[in-house]
Amino acid sequence: MIKTDLMYEGKAKKVWKTDSEDYVIVEYKDDATAFNGLKKGTIQGKGIVNNKVANRLFKYLEENGVATHFVEELSDRETLVKKVEIIPVEVVVRNIAAGGLSKRLGIPEGTKLKSTVLEYCYKNDELGDPMINEYHAFALGICTAKELENIAYEAFKINKLLSDLLADLNIELIDFKLEFGRFHGKIVLADEISPDTCRFWDSKTGEKLDKDRFRRDLGNVKEAYLEIMNRLLGD
Ligand code: TMP
Ligand code: ASP
Repeated sequence: MIKTDLMYEGKAKKVWKTDSEDYVIVEYKDDATAFNGLKKGTIQGKGIVNNKVANRLFKYLEENGVATHFVEELSDRETLVKKVEIIPVEVVVRNIAAGGLSKRLGIPEGTKLKSTVLEYCYKNDELGDPMINEYHAFALGICTAKELENIAYEAFKINKLLSDLLADLNIELIDFKLEFGRFHGKIVLADEISPDTCRFWDSKTGEKLDKDRFRRDLGNVKEAYLEIMNRLLGD
């Protein structure tokens, strides 16, 4: 596959066209933003970590029956993926209260939820990614009921698979965000799964090993990303 024109540049990734209509190349950047782009910075090496972590997790999910956009890692920062039509919904799965949920509902961070919470946000930077429910998604024509049913089923399955994998590495999966796309009419997991899009806490110490270190100026940001990569891929 030959890399051709730049198709899109987002906050953390660039997407390049290829000579095939069905595939694109994602390039992970070190740029970091938070609070809808209000806070900006750079995390040295983040692009490499996120590329390798996401690919490790996508491969594991594929092996366990989850369809993803992953095709092949091309370099430290670049991966060949299926060109999907992204469904503009951020799917958030929560096991432990933190971040937005703690703020919204007044539940202290770290509180174990009695059952898993699934949330949808409409992917729209101008509106600040507002939370929506199924009815909004259908009313806006974002996706069909059948598609959302499939997405919710996959999200719960992914939660179980990732929680189990990470628990063995002494990482607690607090919450995470997924994005799905359509590839030849079929729903596949897309975007990335990385310390940018998940909350990972060390199971023994409770130390935060994710983007909250950047969002909240906790220090040792780069070190936390590397720690996640090393535990998942081995040093
Ligand atoms: P929240 O608690 O801020 O709503 O975040 C929930 C999860 O979603 C957390 O693991 C971080 C992730 N997330 C993103 O990946 N992108 C975003 O824009 C936001 C707000 C959260
Ligand atoms: N990715 C989002 C942004 O840039 C927010 C976040 O991850 O906190 O602004």
